[in-house]
Amino acid sequence: MSDSRISSLQAAVPTLRLLTEPADLAHYGVDWTRRWTPAPLAIGLPASIDEVQATMRWAHAQGVAVVPSGGRTGLSGGAVAANGELVLSLQRMNKVLGFEPADRLLTVEAGIALEAVQEAARSHDLQYPVDFAARGSCSIGGNIATNAGGIRVVRYGNTREWVAGVKLVTATGELLDLNRGLVKNSSGYDLRHLVVASEGTLGIIVEATLRLAAPPAETRVMLLALPSFEVLMEVFQALRARLPLEAFEFFTDRALHHVVAHGAQPPFEAVYPYYVVAEFACEGEAGEVQVLSAFEYCMEQGWVEDGVISHGDTQAAALWRLREGITESLASHLPYKNDVSVRISAMPAFLARTQALLTAEYPQFDVVWFGHIGDGNLHINVLKPADMDNADFVVECDRVTKLLAATLAEHGGSISAEHGIGLVKKPYLESTRSPAEIAVMRGIRQALDPGGILNPGKLFD
Ligand code: FAD
Ligand code: MLT
Ligand code: ZN
Repeated sequence: MSDSRISSLQAAVPTLRLLTEPADLAHYGVDWTRRWTPAPLAIGLPASIDEVQATMRWAHAQGVAVVPSGGRTGLSGGAVAANGELVLSLQRMNKVLGFEPADRLLTVEAGIALEAVQEAARSHDLQYPVDFAARGSCSIGGNIATNAGGIRVVRYGNTREWVAGVKLVTATGELLDLNRGLVKNSSGYDLRHLVVASEGTLGIIVEATLRLAAPPAETRVMLLALPSFEVLMEVFQALRARLPLEAFEFFTDRALHHVVAHGAQPPFEAVYPYYVVAEFACEGEAGEVQVLSAFEYCMEQGWVEDGVISHGDTQAAALWRLREGITESLASHLPYKNDVSVRISAMPAFLARTQALLTAEYPQFDVVWFGHIGDGNLHINVLKPADMDNADFVVECDRVTKLLAATLAEHGGSISAEHGIGLVKKPYLESTRSPAEIAVMRGIRQALDPGGILNPGKLFD
């Protein structure tokens, strides 16, 4: 069965590079979740839009499920292929196609890495401000499909803000050129925005036209050790009022423990409950004075247990490593990830309630908190106790997430802030979206993919 489908695909798209070796199937069938056993039919590595279109026409005609695949750094199982799907990896479509200075628009193939886009922007003295630790491996197609956030959302917004145009190949192989880089376009539904956060269920993103921005002249990074979350929120408001914030991130003592165990330098002699890494634009001497006086203000309020301001790129990078290294430092523990959001104003109440519930019901779990606090986005990672077997752990984590979902509903939050729903959070979608909203989403999916071949089983069944 599999073999005849593969030869049929190869006959339909003779130039398409196809991989079928077990090692390749295992490699391309998983993302960072590592929870499902990979079992794809084959891996297609198209090199052109024509090949993507021809492949989709074939898949639609044959009723073969297709998993669009980027850098596979996703944390919700969206790029997992565990049911005999054809994985369509965009990794060979990774070129910069053009830059238009008057528009400040960069056009790229969808398989290009985020970091390569950032570098291309820098080469024009501009910046592409979406940024996070997976920058070297994740792709722009994957960023758009998940509406990736990261460490600079507080200043620049999510990926959605930076997508000026998308070329999409539909399930039936049609090419849609959506918005074409226009700033203003009130000519009906903005289908480009439907593609953002669609998690590979509405089409294959093959090209993107991205907005670029002027970068800050210089920046400074501040690390602050704080006694409580209430103080952390005071510090956030004080710094936001006094400085041009570029980032405002937090982590707890448990996160610091893991990142230091993984090789980072401890920042201070003592350990404190909460830490903030904040970055500010800081121009010349006036900027320096502004940063220093904001720092002093926080000290004078009695909020800060210890703190440091970076001098130079090396120190700034070392401070950022404490925050950006957390995901990697937890990876070997196979953490169960929760990526939730509430309004910033609801955060103290949500955090206090969740911490109390988790401590009361799951005292045996190492729960690691960190995240994009300036955006109301908390990452709550539950680590498996050494003496608990995998199956029991998954059952327990499911209970934790149910508890979180109920608490989020009380606080008007979302079960996925930036990682997407994928497979991991599919059972909890209804805690965030109403039945009427989900029905509309299903209708949209049906309109674009009548055969239901694009990433089936992801987002919703
Ligand atoms: P993949 O994992 O390959 O796929 C993700 C989803 O997009 C899947 O549903 C897939 O089907 C779909 N998809 C991929 N390419 C296409 C395409 N061309 N067309 C249509 N659909 C497609 N995420 C954040 O938002 N913020 C963070 O701060 C952040 N930090 C991270 C740090 C680390 C160390 C790691 C490992 C991950 C982090 N992530 C973060 C998660 C992840 O990097 C993002 O979700 C990223 O956008 C995924 O991109 P990708 O190319 O790896 O996508
Ligand atoms: C982060 O903010 O570091 C990422 O979203 C990754 C994670 O949650 O582990
Ligand atoms: Zn994050």
